[in-house]
Amino acid sequence: MRLLALSGSLRARSSNGAVLRSALGLWDGPSTTADIGALPHFNPDLDGEDATAPAPVAALRTAVAAADALLVVSPEYVHGVPGVLKNALDWLVSSGECVHKPVAVITASPSPTGGDHANAQLRETLGMMTGEVVTAACREIPAIGPKVDATTQRVTDEPTLTDLASALSHLAKAVPPPAAGTP
Ligand SMILES: Cc1cc2nc3c(=O)[nH]c(=O)nc-3n(C[C@H](O)[C@H](O)[C@H](O)COP(=O)(O)O)c2cc1C
Repeated sequence: MRLLALSGSLRARSSNGAVLRSALGLWDGPSTTADIGALPHFNPDLDGEDATAPAPVAALRTAVAAADALLVVSPEYVHGVPGVLKNALDWLVSSGECVHKPVAVITASPSPTGGDHANAQLRETLGMMTGEVVTAACREIPAIGPKVDATTQRVTDEPTLTDLASALSHLAKAVPPPAAGTP
C-alpha cells in the first residue's frame, strides 16, 4: 500500500515535518511526500478539461492518483489551514484524485489544542472533495515542541509514536483490498 504525505508547513525545521517523517517511518509499505511549495496559486482558468495543468500541478495529481492512501500533516495558522495546503487541495478538486481515497489528517501545534481548528477544517474540506476521511486515523497533537528531537527532526516521544502507529494502522485498514487480477 502506497502512502503519499502532504505537509502544510514549508519550514525547514517544521515540527509537522518531523511528525510526517516519523509517520512515514512507521508506515508498512512504500511512502513518499509531495512538494506543494512549488505549486502556482490556484486559478480556475488553468484548471479543467480545456486547460493544460502547470507541471507542478500535474506532478501532484499523478502522485495522488498513484497513492492508496493520503496523510495530511499540518500546522494551524490563525485558527485555519495554511494557505499553501489549501491551495494544493484546491488544485485536486476538479481532477478528482482524492475521490474515495482514504485520508488521515494530523495537526501538531505547540499549543494545548493541537491545531484543532485546522484539523476540523481539513476534514471538512477533504470530505467535500469526497475523500474518505478516516476519523480513527486523525490526530491532534498538542505541545509538540519537546516531543521532537532537535537533531534528528523526528518525534521521540514514545506515547506519541505509539499513537501515530495506531493512527496509521487505522488508515491502512481503510485501504480496500486490490481487485482480483490486479498485479
Ligand atoms: C502565522 C502563524 C499563525 C499561527 N496560528 C496558530 C494558531 O492559530 N493555532 C496554533 O495552535 N498555532 C498557531 N501558530 C503557531 C504554530 O503552531 C507554530 O509556529 C508551529 O510550530 C508551526 O508548525 P511547524 O513547526 O510545522 O512549522 C501560528 C504560527 C504562525 C507562523
